[in-house]
Amino acid sequence: MAGIPDSLKGRSYTRVSDWSREELELALDLADELKQERLRRKELRVLPGRTIGMIFHKPSTRTRVGFEVGIAELGGMALYLPASDLQLARGESYRDTALVLSRFLSALLIRTFDQAEVDTFAEHASIPVINGLTDLAHPLQALADAMTIRERLGGLEGVRLTYLGDGNNVCHSLMRIAALFGMHFTAACPTGYEPSAAVVAAAQTDALVSGGSVRLTSDPLDGSDAADVLYTDVWTSMGQEEERAQRLLDLERFSLDAELLSVASREAVAMHCLPAHVGEEITEEVLYGPRSLVWDQAENRLHTQKAIMALVIR
Ligand code: CP
Ligand code: NVA
Repeated sequence: MAGIPDSLKGRSYTRVSDWSREELELALDLADELKQERLRRKELRVLPGRTIGMIFHKPSTRTRVGFEVGIAELGGMALYLPASDLQLARGESYRDTALVLSRFLSALLIRTFDQAEVDTFAEHASIPVINGLTDLAHPLQALADAMTIRERLGGLEGVRLTYLGDGNNVCHSLMRIAALFGMHFTAACPTGYEPSAAVVAAAQTDALVSGGSVRLTSDPLDGSDAADVLYTDVWTSMGQEEERAQRLLDLERFSLDAELLSVASREAVAMHCLPAHVGEEITEEVLYGPRSLVWDQAENRLHTQKAIMALVIR
């Protein structure tokens, strides 16, 4: 495998827009290579003696396990730091935590609520800070999604990608990466659940350059029409549990089911970042059916996370 370039050493990944299209492409190419090397059971210990901290304010399966396994495979050590066990929970500032952890660690992953917390870490830390999901964004997920689409469809430019349901963190990051790579992105969301107007405007600006497009609709059938990829996420994100009953009612028409797949393109595939609530945002038939890309998508979290770490950690 080709060597790992130095150009991104020390960089944080707090949102998709931190990186240019070329830089994201570098990560995607490396993730493809790491996937192949892993299949050959080849060891790539590029992080010997490095410890990577992982602060979690919310639960996680894929992000956490992908990091722990990825770090072990790259020869480093993972340190799981549940936020409730840190002095952060007793009021120590993000700034001080970032300054201190920078003296111990080689990189820091954070999953939290407020994007400002990740931004504060990135501002004050002297090590790369990686966003493991906030209420605003899920940039690691978007990278794995782009890898998965590219792997299946052979490229990203011109792909018609429709996101159905809640215009949330996953939708935001997916929209940003889609627009950067020249995809035609549609968010089909009910009124009141649209993605952030600022994120849509920024993505539309990127799409002007890439030749892609970004549009919104409140009609799931119109949104799915002729799409190459139908994508969905949970209707109740972490931290929104009290709104669950209302959300189930409001989002009911947006379930990714066989009917929506039937109006998409003939070869259309279904994606979901997981965890899934079967019978809510996706049907059992679609999730486990022949057009589901969901399990490849979950696996690709590992390869893309390894690629990010290998690129940014000194
Ligand atoms: N998709 C995703 O981020 O999964 P986890 O919440 O399990 O990390
Ligand atoms: N939108 C979901 C994604 C989970 C990976 C959440 O924030 O809970």
